[in-house]
Amino acid sequence: MKINIKNYKQIVVLTGAGISAASGIRTYRGENGVWQEFDVGQHGRVDRLKDNPQQIWTLFGALRAQLKSAMPNQAHLALAALEQNLRPDQQFTLITQNVDGLHQRAGSVNVVELHGNIRYTKCANAACDLAPFTDENTYADAVPRCSKCGDVLRPDIVLFGEMIPALPGWQAKRALRECDLFMAIGTSGSVAPASNFVRSAEYAGARTIYINLDPMEPRNPAFKEEYLGKAEELLPAML
Ligand code: OAD
Ligand code: ZN
Repeated sequence: MKINIKNYKQIVVLTGAGISAASGIRTYRGENGVWQEFDVGQHGRVDRLKDNPQQIWTLFGALRAQLKSAMPNQAHLALAALEQNLRPDQQFTLITQNVDGLHQRAGSVNVVELHGNIRYTKCANAACDLAPFTDENTYADAVPRCSKCGDVLRPDIVLFGEMIPALPGWQAKRALRECDLFMAIGTSGSVAPASNFVRSAEYAGARTIYINLDPMEPRNPAFKEEYLGKAEELLPAML
């Protein structure tokens, strides 16, 4: 099934971990997901910064390690090509829950990173003026400390129990308001607020499409079309 992109003016795509699976990044849920090994909801909770920050680094340091050799795959590239081939009167917003930065590396430009980017490290103390910095260390053995205030350093991503930062939250809402095509790709649809975006798109009157390896559980009736398979195979054919 080919999607005729020419027919749409406000295209919003939401991606999740499944789109990076073919790049060698483990998904959270599903077969071989990180969740099989850790309870990500607990290990990745903001409270661990206080009582066990090493757990945060064990979980997300591993993601940094996978990223060292990861390259964008055919699914990332298909979305970048879609954006590059639009008419001037068409808008495209790529909202991603991924923190791996692979969409930008594939050439996507209008990317909203809802959950931050794992490339950056920042101080856990919100009052500290240490600026987030790019960092490839995985900190598997010891938790790093802030040179300014001595608090723990953490990856600059949204942990469980934290709010979505105001700017990406607002950018996502703005894009969804007048959306006429909404596609969710490689996401289990189990983490809010992203899991609710399809409903905003439906209110706006958009065509709503779900593309994922496994069916969504439970099904979200706001998706009117569902295509099951690998994003890296389906997207180049559909777009
Ligand atoms: P999940 O791991 O929950 O879901 C990934 C989905 O991708 C699963 O439903 C798989 O079936 C599907 N999948 C696997 N391989 C695929 C492939 N090659 N092509 C297409 N689909 C495939 O990931 P997210 O929905 O992104 O939050 O998870 C949402 C959030 O939960 C994440 O951003 C993360 C996590 O906790 C933070 O880290 C803040
Ligand atoms: Zn600090």
